[in-house]
Amino acid sequence: LRIAILASGRGSNFAALLAARERGELPVEFVLVASDKADAPVLQLAQSAGVPTIVLDPREYADRRAYDFALFDCLAASKPDLLVLAGFMRIIDGDAMKPWAGRMINIHPSLLPKYRGLHTHRRALKAGDVEHGASVHYVTAELDGGPVIAQTTLSIEAGDNENTLAARLLPLEHQLLPAVVALIASGRLALGEQGVIFDDAPI
Ligand code: GRF
Repeated sequence: LRIAILASGRGSNFAALLAARERGELPVEFVLVASDKADAPVLQLAQSAGVPTIVLDPREYADRRAYDFALFDCLAASKPDLLVLAGFMRIIDGDAMKPWAGRMINIHPSLLPKYRGLHTHRRALKAGDVEHGASVHYVTAELDGGPVIAQTTLSIEAGDNENTLAARLLPLEHQLLPAVVALIASGRLALGEQGVIFDDAPI
């Protein structure tokens, strides 16, 4: 499975994918890391791992649509089977992403459908939730609204704040994302008309 990553920042989820591949748990090839931020640490990470990188600066495009079509053109040139959004902090144009329906996933730090968008830890705390987590979902035109594939959960403890919650959740994200990618690589997961299709049959 050929994978292209879209990321804007730190890249710890990409690092977790690289580590899983190192351990022989992910039969995949990382063909490109694309970013909207020239100084994103994820780019260094890719370079040290020998993964090609590309930066597209949104300020150089007329509007979101122009940017997104250019971005997906670049991505397509690397012939990925799957696009993984790992901390890509941009909303993507619905038309631009159409050709990638069912071939693009995102990791989001909430128990979707709760808390789409930003500041998920803060919002979970403010709501008095006893449980929080992260979700991996297929990307559709609706922000953080595509069909959920898998989730990881943790309890919110008395005294938790945004930082403690984020710090406890991150290692769980680092297990969840490689696990979902492994499932996709095994060919047992797909997006159908009615949502996620999971084929439990041995491969
Ligand atoms: C993660 O919390 C992920 O759930 C969210 O953005 C963050 C990315 O972190 N979409 P990193 O860049 O992978 O370290």
